[in-house]
Amino acid sequence: MILYDPDIIQQHLQTNRFVREIHVYRSVTSTNTVAKRLADAGAPSGTLVLAEKQTTGKGRMGREWDSPEGVGLWFSLIFRPKSVRIDYRLLPLILSEEIALALRDHSGVRFAVKWPNDIHYSGKKVCGILCESSYVGQKLDYAVAGIGMNVNQGESDFPETLRKTATSLREVLGKKVDRLALLAAILNNFESRFCGENANGNHLTHWRSLCAELGSPITVRFGNQSYSGIFHDISEMGELILRERNGNTHKFLSGEATIVKELK
Ligand code: BTN
Repeated sequence: MILYDPDIIQQHLQTNRFVREIHVYRSVTSTNTVAKRLADAGAPSGTLVLAEKQTTGKGRMGREWDSPEGVGLWFSLIFRPKSVRIDYRLLPLILSEEIALALRDHSGVRFAVKWPNDIHYSGKKVCGILCESSYVGQKLDYAVAGIGMNVNQGESDFPETLRKTATSLREVLGKKVDRLALLAAILNNFESRFCGENANGNHLTHWRSLCAELGSPITVRFGNQSYSGIFHDISEMGELILRERNGNTHKFLSGEATIVKELK
């Protein structure tokens, strides 16, 4: 199924408040780059940028994001603080929570969130999120949230280097997934989270229960250093709170640290 017709996408959405504009492309460098360009030119909150393929998809920490044609959901959304009133430090966690819930409702399978903003199944990554912000002076002008979901790749479609750490919904569920229906399910969840009755709260009602590492030993990489301890909790700002064996605690901000090892 080809995804790149905005009218067809629109027909699948129940949302009419959150998604304001839809831009679809067969191939772009990165939907985040395109979304930032549109946002700089004044595009509204709720602008969706989606591509069948990215030639230089971007991951966290300067990594590349493999985005082959026709098998994934590669899209970005513009958020403006006047329209979506949340604590933007929590945006990655809120998005990962909503995506994991949409996946659960859509497929009946429980997916885990991994701090700060990944979705995993059995320790392998299905979805990653890259949030990029733009400020005017000290004030947030907009955030672009880029979402990359491995949907219909077979194992051999992944580059050799990713096969141990990445998987797709098709691999997990044992069948092909309708990408359009899945995209609609995710965006409809975003609509109720960001435009519904409790839209202004910064609650992460389900995040902790969806996080497999919480309460477990982990190693966090921060710059050139590694810290090992128990994943104690997340703070109100979405920081990872690590408690070392000697009782010391460290807080890590999303965007600056990454969990490199989960000790079984
Ligand atoms: C990560 O886990 O490292 C984040 C991956 C984010 C990938 C998505 S795909 C759509 C959007 N455009 C990009 O270039 N990156 C994000």
